[in-house]
Amino acid sequence: MSKRAAAAVLAGVMIVGLSACSSTGGSSDGKKPGGKLVLGFAQVGAESGWRTANTKSVQEAAKKAGITLKFSDAQQKQENQIKAIRSFIQQKVDVIAFSPVVESGWDTVLKEAKNAHIPVILTDRAIDSEDTSLYATFLGSDFVEEGKKAGDWLVKEYQGKPGEVNIVQLEGTTGSAPANDRKSGFADVIKGDPKFKVVASQTGDFTRAKGKEVMQAFLKAQPRIDVLYAHNDDMALGAIQAIEEAGKKPGTDIRIVSVDGVKDAFTAMSQGKINFDVECNPLLGDQLMELAKKVKNGESVERRIKTVEGTFTPEQATAALPTRQY
Ligand code: AHR
Repeated sequence: MSKRAAAAVLAGVMIVGLSACSSTGGSSDGKKPGGKLVLGFAQVGAESGWRTANTKSVQEAAKKAGITLKFSDAQQKQENQIKAIRSFIQQKVDVIAFSPVVESGWDTVLKEAKNAHIPVILTDRAIDSEDTSLYATFLGSDFVEEGKKAGDWLVKEYQGKPGEVNIVQLEGTTGSAPANDRKSGFADVIKGDPKFKVVASQTGDFTRAKGKEVMQAFLKAQPRIDVLYAHNDDMALGAIQAIEEAGKKPGTDIRIVSVDGVKDAFTAMSQGKINFDVECNPLLGDQLMELAKKVKNGESVERRIKTVEGTFTPEQATAALPTRQY
């Protein structure tokens, strides 16, 4: 059983005791007496449209909730995130929230937060640790499920069609939960039929520029590509540029399945360039602020809060485009 699976088994409702030991005390709305609740938030970076929407959601929700937000951008580097968390501990914030760049290597700094009696909330991405006492709750998507949804679409799309299906995969940031889980969820589904072959798989670091660069290399190296599976929309959008520059039609010559559901991808879908998009909801701000107040006050919170998400065909994306928030 993986460490994360073990953590899930231990999951359920947990009383968050960390804040009870906090020297700052608290009132029923989670604020310091005479002051605002202070939340330190260590963001991954600004690598994608999804991330920009997530940052905006957190910043706006903090304002609305009357929470003082100390925001740090790690520029996709774990060492920067660790520094930010240490700085939040030094500043004695009430609660720390972060979206871990990668899954492993967090125990030391999170033990420091625990020793300082500062509760930690994982948001968007999980960590791989056996010590589930290091964080109060994890709010975010089920990335394995997202990968499975992408695989399910592919299987349906090629049902009854003979011949091999050559797939290239643009992976997210190496070692990150969404890259690991979207890859394994997808692989789990397609392994049921040997006609599906992942002929190349490489990281595009969740960015448009890297997605384009890696797709250019795939196009040069692979004699035939039928399908691109991109772990996020920004990489898919970068790859679309590479495909067009190579004189091919994205969505037709190469079918594209992606994850996120951002506006730019919906526009590409309305133009027939992406065939299916699995939603990953970045609008976590309001829920995060509620959780911050609760953990600060020592109230019970669920150990795992999953985001509700759907999937989009080009028709559904085109219809949703005018009201899409991100
Ligand atoms: O962790 C969520 C992922 O990170 C999103 O799919 C991606 O766009 C982002 O960079």
